[in-house]
Amino acid sequence: MKDRIKELRSLKAEALLGGGQARIDQQHAKGKLIARERIDVLLDPGSFTELDMLARHRSTRFGLEKQRPLGDGVVTGFGTIHGRTVCVFSQDFTVFGGSLSEVHAEKIVKLMDHAIKIGAPVIGLNDSGGARIQEGVVSLGGYADIFLRNTMASGVVPQISVILGPCAGGAVYSPALTDFIFMVKGTSYMFVTGPDVVKTVTHEEVTHEELGGADTHAERSGVAHFTYDNEVDCLLAVRKLTSYLPLNNRETPPLRPTDDASARMCDKLRTIVPTNPNQPYDIKEVIRDVVDEADFFEVHAEFATNIICGFATLDGMPVGIVANQPASLAGVLDINASVKGARFVRFCDAFGIPLIVFEDVPGFLPGTDQEWRGIIRHGAKLLYAFCEATVPKLTVITRKAYGGAYDVMSSKHIRGDYNVAWPTAEIAVMGAKGAVEILYRKEIADAADKAQRSQELQDAYNDQFANPYEAAERGYVDDVIEPQETRTKLIRMLHVLRTKEDTNPWKKHGNIPL
Ligand code: HXC
Repeated sequence: MKDRIKELRSLKAEALLGGGQARIDQQHAKGKLIARERIDVLLDPGSFTELDMLARHRSTRFGLEKQRPLGDGVVTGFGTIHGRTVCVFSQDFTVFGGSLSEVHAEKIVKLMDHAIKIGAPVIGLNDSGGARIQEGVVSLGGYADIFLRNTMASGVVPQISVILGPCAGGAVYSPALTDFIFMVKGTSYMFVTGPDVVKTVTHEEVTHEELGGADTHAERSGVAHFTYDNEVDCLLAVRKLTSYLPLNNRETPPLRPTDDASARMCDKLRTIVPTNPNQPYDIKEVIRDVVDEADFFEVHAEFATNIICGFATLDGMPVGIVANQPASLAGVLDINASVKGARFVRFCDAFGIPLIVFEDVPGFLPGTDQEWRGIIRHGAKLLYAFCEATVPKLTVITRKAYGGAYDVMSSKHIRGDYNVAWPTAEIAVMGAKGAVEILYRKEIADAADKAQRSQELQDAYNDQFANPYEAAERGYVDDVIEPQETRTKLIRMLHVLRTKEDTNPWKKHGNIPL
């Protein structure tokens, strides 16, 4: 027995070394942690239970039969974050560059099958050279097995991808199918085809970082939801994200105790909206003043900054916040903002997280660029997402609610549960200038002082429409509230809406305009 235990211990010690000390040192020299160190940062101390530590590949080609490291390049298992179960896989770059073999894929698939059955999030720490070249199509099959699980798990358990090294070729599509992608600046990159192929095909010269680094995906493509300067901050942020999420789509989101009084007045909000309707203000100040302890966890912070999405709690209850940002492009809805907002709304709806909308939107962005790239198609995504969402939906119109954007931003007509406006709200088909130019074109042209006549007409239009009272008369807003009451009112209604039940007609699935 003693010998058997010795043998086991020696095997496990070998497994812990992955691809060997030299490769571990190389990984550290690049400023990267190794697979198990990352798991240690991510999970509660001592909570990890590993599976398949002793798995080995079965490949016999290219001399691989002589090189069969234990674990086969990925560490998989269960652990806890803040005491709640999660499933984790962490690719080990020290073993064949973390490349995905048949066995490596089988380990991930086994974990994902468990995750779906037990109802726990899947967190994938990706650091891989892609398909294991020596295994050919078997490796491609392994990817497809994972893609299928990603799709089946979508909307059932939260899926989080953390990119901590290379992620190239078809391998990018597993993270792309998950709910959130985290990246680290300088050490992680994602692209379908790398700089060499790009140069051959399009003659563009581009570095790894420019083509698919963290900043590129955070600001330009929107592929990455979160970016951090180093791996530890990144993994700690994953812990924070999970603290807002239920473990699965049948669980209610976790309550977080708070000392922030639900009756606290938001005094700062009394004067936050400038008198001049064309002057911007920062909607994030509104959000921070309303939510518990000013703690707002923003998603996609650098992408489509004209719409703000993120998580917070109100009286301890997790909520998803969607807000137009007057401080960026006047808060207009464009293609990227619509897609960003729609995806966030659908995530929250899938996982029962109530939606809070702060609305100050002058409309959709005009122009050939937007029209030709399909603002109609993409804007419809946001509309569709809000229409189909059955979670509690609460909206505060702080200032402009113009045109189609009024309807889109979770209006009463598309099943908003509690829609309120501040006295500064302007709810109309369009702004005064545009409206009078259409309605009174001839009259203005004929006037002796065109500018003065236009201004008079705009003032008259504003008197009629630049307020929330016509909407309130019709019940299109449930109330007009004083800005400082916003937190209290939202919290009360969130409590009321905790028992909300609403359904959509039976269907196989809808046909969101993709
Ligand atoms: C087998 C691989 C590998 C791979 C790396 N290695 N990628 N082994 N299959 N895909 C091995 C290397 O041989 C090396 O082994 C070790 O991992 C470290 O690799 P290095 O090249 O020394 O590291 P580095 O310089 O940091 O470069 C990392 C890299 C590069 C950029 C990832 O290795 C690379 O370009 N790899 C190939 C990437 C690729 O084209 N993959 C296929 C993509 S297509 P030794 O023994 O020397 O330490 C794809 C399709 C998926 O993945 C399809 C899904 C539908």
